Amino acid sequence: MRFQGKTALITGSSSGIGRATALLFAREGADVVINGRDEQRIAAVVQEVEALGRRALGIRADVSRFAEVHAMVDTALAAFGHLDILISNAGIFHHRPFLAMTEEEWDAVLAVDLKGTFNCARAVIGPMTAQRWGRIVCVTAISGLTGYAEMTHIAAAKTGTHGFVKALAREVAAVGITVNAVAPGLVDTPILANLATEQLDRFRRETPVGRIGSPHEIAEACAYFASDQAGYVTGQILNISGGTLI
Ligand SMILES: NC(=O)c1ccc[n+]([C@@H]2O[C@H](COP(=O)([O-])OP(=O)(O)OC[C@H]3O[C@@H](n4cnc5c(N)ncnc54)[C@H](OP(=O)(O)O)[C@@H]3O)[C@@H](O)[C@H]2O)c1
Repeated sequence: MRFQGKTALITGSSSGIGRATALLFAREGADVVINGRDEQRIAAVVQEVEALGRRALGIRADVSRFAEVHAMVDTALAAFGHLDILISNAGIFHHRPFLAMTEEEWDAVLAVDLKGTFNCARAVIGPMTAQRWGRIVCVTAISGLTGYAEMTHIAAAKTGTHGFVKALAREVAAVGITVNAVAPGLVDTPILANLATEQLDRFRRETPVGRIGSPHEIAEACAYFASDQAGYVTGQILNISGGTLI
């Protein structure tokens, strides 16, 4: 078991990729913090983790709010005694032609997808530095590498996160903390409900492997970056897109 004795805070783990990551980490021995903004969805994943025999702490917090994130980390540290892994995964899916995009829509995406990552990393970096071991993995998107029409806000946030990952990786490498990102293409999570059938069919056709990714495939990449085995890997962005970007 790769994460025996480790604790992981996984933001946005009440659904989709975050939930799959929490369940994989629990199967690999980690105790986990389950986060989101909806109490019921958090409680459902907490139960799933506990059914695997691991400890799960459900914490409702909006990652865009600095004080809420710091309170979440303090609660996790009080409960578990240490925090070893941060998976910064919470994100908003939204598309809008640029001509129609409002300031509020731009700010909302940047607040969660970019500032949320700063807030979470800022809150865990002190404790991780003190224990001289830590793993930070950011879930971004290939839109942060290639751009994507009608997603200028998400692409900007994800590209910004890539810069953040590379800069922070350099800054904290010497104290035993690695910082990496996984950049998925389209993945089968509840956000796909926002897309029309024709759009999904087009995505499948345009993806060389001919299908949409599963949340578990992204979780496995997070697990690699979070493992002891990846101690020499930092500042990297792993594109997981079925060949969409080669
Ligand atoms: N699915 C894809 O095709 C795809 C592709 C590329 C990248 N990604 C990235 O993968 C990550 C996860 O997406 P997903 O597909 O798994 O979506 P999802 O199923 O909608 O899950 C998103 C999670 O984030 C939480 N969340 C949203 N805003 C939050 C906030 N302000 N504070 C705390 N939690 C918040 C949601 O819970 P609440 O709504 O209850 O807060 C939920 O748990 C995102 O960063 C997304 O950009 C996904």
